[in-house]
Amino acid sequence: MRFNYLSFLIASPASILSVVRATPTTAALPNTATVNLNNSIGATKFLASGFIYGFPDNGTNAQTSIPDYLIKDIKFGATRAGGAQISAPGWASGGYEGGYQKRFESALSNYRSARKYGGAFILLPHDLWGAQGGGAPQFPGDDGNWSEMEKFWNQVIADVKDNDMLDGLVIDIWNEPDGSGFWARSWAQYVEYYVRTTKLIRAALPDVLISGPSTAHSPSLDSENWKAWMSAVAGNQTVPDIYSWHQIGEWEREPDSTVPDFNKLRADYGLPEKPIDVNEYGWNTEQNPANSVYYISQLERHNIRGLRSNWASGSDLHDYMGNLVAKKNGQYVPNGDWQLYKYYAEMVGERLETIAASDPQFDVFAVRERLVLKVIAGTRSLQRNGTITITGLESLGFASSDLIGVRRYRFDWNGPQAEVGKPVDLAFITYRFTEGTINIPFAPPTNTTAFSYEIALRRS
Ligand SMILES: *[C@@H]1O[C@H](CO)[C@@H](O)[C@H](O)[C@H]1NC(C)=O
Ligand SMILES: *[C@@H]1O[C@H](CO)[C@@H](O)[C@H](O)[C@H]1NC(C)=O
Ligand SMILES: *[C@@H]1O[C@H](CO)[C@@H](O)[C@H](O)[C@H]1NC(C)=O
Ligand SMILES: *[C@@H]1O[C@H](CO)[C@@H](O)[C@H](O)[C@H]1NC(C)=O
Ligand SMILES: *[C@@H]1O[C@H](CO)[C@@H](O)[C@H](O)[C@H]1NC(C)=O
Ligand SMILES: *[C@@H]1O[C@H](CO)[C@@H](O)[C@H](O)[C@H]1NC(C)=O
Repeated sequence: MRFNYLSFLIASPASILSVVRATPTTAALPNTATVNLNNSIGATKFLASGFIYGFPDNGTNAQTSIPDYLIKDIKFGATRAGGAQISAPGWASGGYEGGYQKRFESALSNYRSARKYGGAFILLPHDLWGAQGGGAPQFPGDDGNWSEMEKFWNQVIADVKDNDMLDGLVIDIWNEPDGSGFWARSWAQYVEYYVRTTKLIRAALPDVLISGPSTAHSPSLDSENWKAWMSAVAGNQTVPDIYSWHQIGEWEREPDSTVPDFNKLRADYGLPEKPIDVNEYGWNTEQNPANSVYYISQLERHNIRGLRSNWASGSDLHDYMGNLVAKKNGQYVPNGDWQLYKYYAEMVGERLETIAASDPQFDVFAVRERLVLKVIAGTRSLQRNGTITITGLESLGFASSDLIGVRRYRFDWNGPQAEVGKPVDLAFITYRFTEGTINIPFAPPTNTTAFSYEIALRRS
């Protein structure tokens, strides 16, 4: 019997079970997600390791309450904030001193926390304005009067400069303008606001990145909102540096469908290719290891930077890193999803081409570093068996009937406030290489469980 594994993949010999599974042929396997070792899609960037809000405020200073390891070990990449849900109501209701100033200070503290860990900071002016809940007494451009909006932006721009916030800054023109919760005015008024604000920021802060339109609804070919926005953006030369939208909930499809639609619309309006931020992803019930793998796989496949949504309120919004950490006896501890992001952060090397299951409610993300392949797999809220098919092994010299060792880990979830330890190290299993593939069965015990697989790519 031949085993193909690198010794470090088996820390404890007790975990080895030399079970050889028959490998069925690939043709008729339902719910199959595929990894193709032949094709790399570029070096790893940990694109999905962001969250909105989630850092505790600390005056105007960086926070120190959440220990460094919880932030660094997931390779934190970006946060997004603007002082929402604190005692000060924002510019529109409270003016500069009573409404705006404390919100700006909260944003500045979060900016400094993000920069302390090398992450990007995406500023949310709609929160500085105080538009959450749609209840602001005034929106930019009401009655065709833009003077308050200009006063507001001149203040934000001055504060950003005075506080040295330019490094790593993205200004996100307005959050979810397609939802009355954040923009209780017409789409036309939003589009004009977008165009005017972009010109104003570009004139004052030419090096700062702008993102937009950050819609609640992901792009689709029949969206009149997206078409009107693209048309005005093209006509006024106000293309953002980063296109942005949200992917929240099963009703919103997924990047496999929304990115091709977006690219078609972009081509129709002659807009250039630019990076994409999905600057909120995941409904609150979609924040667990299975769904996190699902979103990570979709985002990575399309080279999209992603930030987890944040469903907390009040001071909890400014805490818990977007539901990744819990508090136990006053100490921050990892929850089950954090363990998944930590594993993801350790998936270094080259990202590989992958294909989601055909429906596509099951997905995989895979990387290769030299002779080690790492794969994570998860469903979109479903407890459903499936198969992970790995192709392209013949180019590494594998031949029919070779046995290939696979080490598996399970990622459990017990809710956002439950501490979960390291992923569970499961038995080491070998599979037979047949007809150009190996097929690994996927059988989640719950609809929130994810698995990882480590495979040595060396014939012995
Ligand atoms: C707040 O910032 C100060 C100054 O950097 C720091 O000493 C302190 O530990 C921070 N406190 C919290 C709770 O983050
Ligand atoms: C526009 O709004 C500002 C205050 O927001 C007000 O002072 C000004 O009079 C308004 N202009 C017109 C023409 O109504
Ligand atoms: C520029 O933007 C405005 C909205 O502010 C829009 O009405 C106008 O049609 C746009 N111009 C062009 C040439 O597209
Ligand atoms: C996932 O499982 C939980 C607990 O069994 C259940 O309440 C929930 O409805 C399931 N979600 C879906 C989308 O089936
Ligand atoms: C991988 O590449 C080899 C040639 O190097 C080719 O024979 C095989 O069909 C490819 N497999 C896939 C899945 O692309
Ligand atoms: C899923 O796979 C597991 C493990 O092989 C098996 O016990 C279970 O019956 C399967 N479930 C379904 C619905 O086929």
